[in-house]
Amino acid sequence: MTGPAEHAEARQRLAAFLRGETGERLFRQPTGHPSSPTGFCFCDRGVLAMVWFCLKAGLLQLLLQLPFAGPKLWFLRRLGARIGRNVHLAPRAWIDPTFPELITIEDGVFVGMDARLLTHEYRIDEFRAGRIVLRRGCFVGGFAILACGVEVGEGATVAAGAVVGRDVPPGCTAIGNPARIVARGAAAEITVPEPPEAKA
Ligand SMILES: CC(C)(COP(=O)(O)OP(=O)(O)OC[C@H]1O[C@@H](n2cnc3c(N)ncnc32)[C@H](O)[C@@H]1OP(=O)(O)O)[C@@H](O)C(=O)NCCC(=O)NCCS
Repeated sequence: MTGPAEHAEARQRLAAFLRGETGERLFRQPTGHPSSPTGFCFCDRGVLAMVWFCLKAGLLQLLLQLPFAGPKLWFLRRLGARIGRNVHLAPRAWIDPTFPELITIEDGVFVGMDARLLTHEYRIDEFRAGRIVLRRGCFVGGFAILACGVEVGEGATVAAGAVVGRDVPPGCTAIGNPARIVARGAAAEITVPEPPEAKA
């Protein structure tokens, strides 16, 4: 059974999870039908939370349309995402505005056009929030979808349009829907170029 008391306790666990205190990659909580308010989503946490969410999400979506990465990376970092050097998010790469603090993108990562990084999901009777970790030098193709809780390993490739619900090991390629892992041997040596300002 799930009810208001269970949801209140779960909201505290979710807050600890979001602060990184639980050491877990995935937060799961039975909810009953998604139409019943749980407080996990901004949409059922009152007017002020809703207004803040709409402002944050609206600005993020606007910046994510841009062809250059600087402003969107700056704003994502302000929202708590961990983002390394030489990261490129192509125009319209989409980051879930619900929990951007669950995103980690290491140095030298490229995320293609219209790729989607989801940090939460409602299932018919369960709520999930999960970290997405893109390890150094990995490549996420255009229109790919990464489900919450997924890690793409160092130097790995996610093919265009792949739907990825499981980790992609380092140096491997994930192709298709649902994505299958195609081993490409050991992770190649990855050279992440210095950003221009660091060279000067
Ligand atoms: C995954 C990818 C890197 C593979 O490139 P590759 O190593 O040259 O591989 P190939 O093109 O030789 O294809 C190998 C096999 O995978 C299949 N394949 C390749 N890409 C695929 C994709 N996106 N979805 C489904 N199958 C794919 C090919 O049909 C081929 O199948 P086969 O062995 O049965 O003939 C490339 O296809 C891709 O998706 N690139 C991403 C492009 C992109 O998103 N750019 C960013 C835009 S902003």
